[in-house]
Amino acid sequence: MLSLEQEVGAWDSVLLEPLTEDTFIGNLQQRFKRDHIYTYIGNVLVSVNPYKKLALYSTDLVETYVKRGPFQLPPHIYAIAGSAYRWLNDRNEDQCIIVTGESGAGKTEAARIVLQFLVLVSGDISEVKLMKDRLVQANTLLEAFGNARTMKNDNASRFGKFLDIEFDYKGDPVSGHLTHSPPFQARVTSLSPGDRNFHIFYQLLSGADIHLLKCLKLQRNVEHYTILQTNRNQPTLTDDEDKKLFVYTKSALEILGFNVEDIVDIFQVIAIVLKLGNLQFVPCNNIDGTEGCAISNEYELFEICELLGAEHRWLQRALTSRQIEDGILTDLSAYEASKARDNLCRTLYSRLFTWLINKINEILKVRFNIGPKNVK
Ligand SMILES: Nc1ncnc2c1ncn2[C@@H]1O[C@H](COP(=O)(O)OP(=O)(O)O)[C@@H](O)[C@H]1O
Ligand SMILES: [Mg+2]
Repeated sequence: MLSLEQEVGAWDSVLLEPLTEDTFIGNLQQRFKRDHIYTYIGNVLVSVNPYKKLALYSTDLVETYVKRGPFQLPPHIYAIAGSAYRWLNDRNEDQCIIVTGESGAGKTEAARIVLQFLVLVSGDISEVKLMKDRLVQANTLLEAFGNARTMKNDNASRFGKFLDIEFDYKGDPVSGHLTHSPPFQARVTSLSPGDRNFHIFYQLLSGADIHLLKCLKLQRNVEHYTILQTNRNQPTLTDDEDKKLFVYTKSALEILGFNVEDIVDIFQVIAIVLKLGNLQFVPCNNIDGTEGCAISNEYELFEICELLGAEHRWLQRALTSRQIEDGILTDLSAYEASKARDNLCRTLYSRLFTWLINKINEILKVRFNIGPKNVK
């Protein structure tokens, strides 16, 4: 039976006497040692990442927290989500839950737990179920395309996100809207030592079947792709997790209503970004003595053109020269061309991401005419 009596230390920091930084941290530490990762400061919840699975999340616990007031049970993120949901329904007030902390603190997990809570407490008719499923799948997609494994965090979000969910008068989610904060695409072509690129690249390489790989003109081997290498020489590998997650990502796309052509297009852009990143430029001298450059691995360019549906001559010129005046071109040096290549990779990836978010927002748009109530 859950009760506040079994709590270790002070469950609400405002009860500490005296309340200093030392007593505050000491209290968090004392609680953390006994797996009490949540502590209040008044109506703010502090959460310390346990980095291990704790028996803190279940349908039964959600039900317990829904029934009781926030300060009658041990501190929990369910209590925060429950209060927001109750205030939304009982007081008809818009609600916003702000999750903040440094990288690896547990923000993404916390947001996911809040979403799971809302899914469990709201209605069960088929339209509501469909919307809830879409909200959860939208999250899966965002993580595949917007998160990466870093030294600090296996699932680090590379962008800020704001999910707006609209509820009807019964407290059921009927629409959603995502806003993301750019810029994050620099990561596509410049990895910090030990970090990986966005999950989707590894998911695709390890999860795609041979037929799809062939269609995309890709090799399964991660080491083949420059943009998947830390410092451009040390590869960060795929594993079984990537293979498993590719199945989830693909089914999330399907559940959200992306059609087969859309899905192939998305993977094609990923393949193009991977292959573009491999283009190598070598310096060469023009007849007039100026420096230019040539692409040393032309076969990649031919394959990219096939995937892009672009003409080889056109893309080659776009990558190795720039326009200085109307119709007048000047050659790029090998260094400048490699910068242009990186820019193109990033632009393609970030446009794909924005396109995905726009598509998801269309899918999450309100279907029924309902009064506005928000949990953000
Ligand atoms: N409540 C939790 N219980 C267990 N593990 C957690 C919890 N919160 C975070 N983690 C672990 O820590 C990792 C980083 O958390 P995450 O939410 O991605 O951090 P952030 O979004 O703040 O950078 C997660 O991948 C997970 O392994
Ligand atoms: Mg995160």
